[in-house]
Amino acid sequence: MRASGKLMVGNWKMNGSLAANASLVADILAGIDNVSFQAVVCAPFVYLSQLQSLLVGSTVALGSQDVSMHEAGAFTGEVSASMLRDFGVRYAIVGHSERRQYHGETDVLVASKAQRALAAGITPIVCVGESLAEREAGQTEAVVKRQLAAVIHANGHCISEIVVAYEPVWAIGTGRTATPEMAQQVHAVLRSQLQAATAHAERVSILYGGSMNAANAADLLAQPDVDGGLIGGAALKAPDFLSMLKAASC
Ligand code: 13P
Repeated sequence: MRASGKLMVGNWKMNGSLAANASLVADILAGIDNVSFQAVVCAPFVYLSQLQSLLVGSTVALGSQDVSMHEAGAFTGEVSASMLRDFGVRYAIVGHSERRQYHGETDVLVASKAQRALAAGITPIVCVGESLAEREAGQTEAVVKRQLAAVIHANGHCISEIVVAYEPVWAIGTGRTATPEMAQQVHAVLRSQLQAATAHAERVSILYGGSMNAANAADLLAQPDVDGGLIGGAALKAPDFLSMLKAASC
């Protein structure tokens, strides 16, 4: 949460193996030298059990990359929030642009997933962000507000328990990062939207994601409304992830 420093989340996406995960986590744990931030790794479902064991007793929390909108039952291939709880999952990414884009996830579906996570005591990391065409058409603010509004609408007063991640789609995996000013501008819009919805908006961490790396993390994290990062590629390299954690502890 915001009060306890920056929140730095590695989204491993569909990467890893038993051997690679063990070595990455060992290197990360060996390099963490303070706890002035909260680090999280979001692993593929099949590795959550392995990660739970690897992270036991450490300061790094476990996250998933998705969660079902359903509670239980005949939903082949789905993984429920209570199952995630069984494996010590504390955070679940919902509405990542890759799921919106490749799996047709709508704002309403994403809002239901956030609701399921919250009901199981898991903090949803709700991703919002505009495409390049939307930015160029001047729609950035309208798009992110619409995406967040659906989650606010479905979750009422619980909204102060979520984490928001602003991930401009054009910045993901492209090496093209939003400038700190661009990120701050959108984060401020999201913060005021949260303020209008809850008296506890200051509790909500708003993360930036999209080609965040060891070189640009400090400048992004220095912005007043950038409370942490959601990191893809650079989270798969222990030295890079560690140097971003260092930037988060300043
Ligand atoms: P990259 O850091 O690889 O651009 O990915 C960002 C992201 O999508 C994190 O969820």
